[in-house]
Amino acid sequence: MPAASTEFANVRVVDHPLVQHRLTILRERSTESASFRQAIRQIGLLLAYEITRDLAMRTKTIETPLQVMQAPELAADVCVVSILRAGNGLLEGMLDLIPAARAGHIGLARDEATLRAEEYYLKLPRDIDRCETILVDPMLATGGSAVAAVDRLRQAGARSVRFACLLAAPEGLRRLAAAHPGLPIITAAIDQGLNAQGYILPGLGDAGDRFYGTV
Ligand code: PRP
Ligand code: URA
Repeated sequence: MPAASTEFANVRVVDHPLVQHRLTILRERSTESASFRQAIRQIGLLLAYEITRDLAMRTKTIETPLQVMQAPELAADVCVVSILRAGNGLLEGMLDLIPAARAGHIGLARDEATLRAEEYYLKLPRDIDRCETILVDPMLATGGSAVAAVDRLRQAGARSVRFACLLAAPEGLRRLAAAHPGLPIITAAIDQGLNAQGYILPGLGDAGDRFYGTV
């Protein structure tokens, strides 16, 4: 996958038809929570496939029914960290594809007035320093939540971190790249920008509320 643009050199847009079809389902106002949850989980699986392309491999000796061979297997320990609440759908999809991965959670709620991300929960695997860490959140809006989450992961010792989202606003991409230069990012789309309330346009609305039916 090529870079999204020269400005966003570390950003890859996953333009696969199966991702884009589900993204349209998520964007549609009429989509109910059950279909929303299913689509977000399925996109999580597909994003996991894309974001893990460069994971380290090793070979091991196995026996097929016919002969002995050297066969590849994953060498990396993977940890998927969800920014609560809305990251959980993507997390579940990623765990469907990488069942051996560990999971972590960072609870961040955006204050609707200041748009600042406030932390209310943190649980990460103890040996996160040994992991390839994938941080997931469907929405990268102002970037405040993603920057705070990557800061936390770095404080906890995570060395290799990548970020997966569904929708990114250019404002959030710039802020995240400024705070964490070189962080690999994949997204299903880069949208137009933010409205006065910090919502992504055209976007999909409030991801957490739509996922949990708390609208
Ligand atoms: C949403 C979303 C991101 C954040 C993005 O979560 O899931 O975490 O906003 O906005 P930002 O880039 O401007 O920080 P929210 O804080 O609404 O919490 P929720 O998932 O519990 O609804
Ligand atoms: N958080 C959301 O859930 N949606 C947006 O558009 C922006 C932040």
